[in-house]
Amino acid sequence: MERITSTDEVPERGSYLFTVTEADGSKEEVILVRFEDGVAAWKNFCQHEVDQRLDRGVGAGAATRDGEIICPKHGSSFDAETGYCDNGKAAGSTLVEVDVAVNRGDVFLTDDDCEFAHEGGIDDGDMPGSTSHLSF
Ligand code: FES
Repeated sequence: MERITSTDEVPERGSYLFTVTEADGSKEEVILVRFEDGVAAWKNFCQHEVDQRLDRGVGAGAATRDGEIICPKHGSSFDAETGYCDNGKAAGSTLVEVDVAVNRGDVFLTDDDCEFAHEGGIDDGDMPGSTSHLSF
């Protein structure tokens, strides 16, 4: 079980972006979002067009409103707790879930299919000067 961040870092409105490594070695972005009494994690792409990111890595992350995550491209909204969309272009689809657990104010990755890579988007791991490139 790997710690992702503290629950305080997950904004009331918006999302916390991080990157995981899949079993095949590929990288995938994941967003943490709040719902009424918890935190959920979803793969950071829309179900209508899978190259459309929900959190584009700017500002407070994904647009959210009333417990829904709103796709920036065509405006379909997904329930932050269940990932389900009942409206617009993505109607009838569900975001891809990533298993997380909250314990004593921290959020942990509990998904067997991926490992925590770093905070931020995929590209943030490649930026010169990012901590992942520091050698000791
Ligand atoms: S790409 Fe998300 S609703 Fe169309």
